[in-house]
Amino acid sequence: MSHKLLRTIAFAAAGLAALAPAYAQNTIKVGVIAEFSGPFADYGAQIEAGMKAYMKQHGDTVAGKKIELITRDTKGPAPDVAKRFAQELITRDQVQFLAGFGLTPNAMAVAPVVTEAKVPMIISNAATSSITTKSPYVTRVSMTIPQVSAPMAEWALKNGIKQVYTVVADYGPGIDAETQFTKSFKAGGGEVVGTLRTPLQNPDFSAAIQRVKDAKPQAVFVFLPAGEQGISFVKGFNERGLAAAGIKLIATGDITDDHVLAAMGDPTLGLITSFHYSAAHDSPENAAFLKAYADANDAKLGAPNFMAAAGYDTMQVIYEVAKKLGGNIDGDKAMAVIKGMKWTSPRGPVAIDADTRDITQTVYIRKVEKKNGKLANVEFDKIADVKDPGK
Ligand code: PHB
Repeated sequence: MSHKLLRTIAFAAAGLAALAPAYAQNTIKVGVIAEFSGPFADYGAQIEAGMKAYMKQHGDTVAGKKIELITRDTKGPAPDVAKRFAQELITRDQVQFLAGFGLTPNAMAVAPVVTEAKVPMIISNAATSSITTKSPYVTRVSMTIPQVSAPMAEWALKNGIKQVYTVVADYGPGIDAETQFTKSFKAGGGEVVGTLRTPLQNPDFSAAIQRVKDAKPQAVFVFLPAGEQGISFVKGFNERGLAAAGIKLIATGDITDDHVLAAMGDPTLGLITSFHYSAAHDSPENAAFLKAYADANDAKLGAPNFMAAAGYDTMQVIYEVAKKLGGNIDGDKAMAVIKGMKWTSPRGPVAIDADTRDITQTVYIRKVEKKNGKLANVEFDKIADVKDPGK
């Protein structure tokens, strides 16, 4: 055989090896695209901590394959960066799943990439309703904002609140919150007396809070992305005397995120929110999650919140798919397994709706109270099997 021919054969063989399907390997790679630095750094930290909790509890091997997380930091809302990470993770690292996505703009940007590559994308947080309509390979284990906003409007109406001012972050989930709250509230005879949208990045709430105070509504309904923004809004609300003026604060549970609740302090006492997860949820599954979170992560990371719980459920879906497919992950087969999947999450019973690929779950009405000396979102009412009303 000629030298040249041998070289050609060797080259072709190397090429084939590179093209070998990822399932022939001994690992299942999960690309985790999230915010690990900047003002939204808690999102990535919480999602990853929840994933690690699941892996600590269930072992890091499933269907004979080792699960490997490959994290990428978008550093904040950065759709172009998220898209580039997705392309690299799929083509270079050959991940079988993409997961993570704290912020809506990052999830939106990746949807067309997974359609093209047929890679399942499991959203661990981003909650704008329409994201799951952007690709048949997208599913979501967190919530949609309309899903948690409608119950708040209904609760307010039942409790004598008839005039509300809305304040939301000016991007996908905030607009979803404003739209759904207004729709449900008006349908029940309520009146929205004013609306304000605040910037996603570096908001200063003082003007908004003053406008609400001047309008003297019975209540203000708020959606802000979890974390620092809730701390500063609640602080301003109290300092500017809105609570003292008898204006009630109602919100989706993002504002009393369990991870920052202690830092928000006693001004949160009595705050009513609607949400799908509270660290104070009383169930054996939640107790197991809290234990696994504490075992798997450094205590310095602080208390888990809904994003950690969703990171845990992200892995539940991945493990279940891996088991059902015997470790050989194929995008279409994975989505077929995911549609209709049911399990008991730390938050309660959940299912993936086969038509929308969104999560059906219980939405709880909670009140901030002291439990064993610590602030907690204590559930006192619930609506079971809530689907996304935004679709
Ligand atoms: C989102 O960007 O979709 C998002 C971020 C933070 C939240 C909820 C939704 O608390």
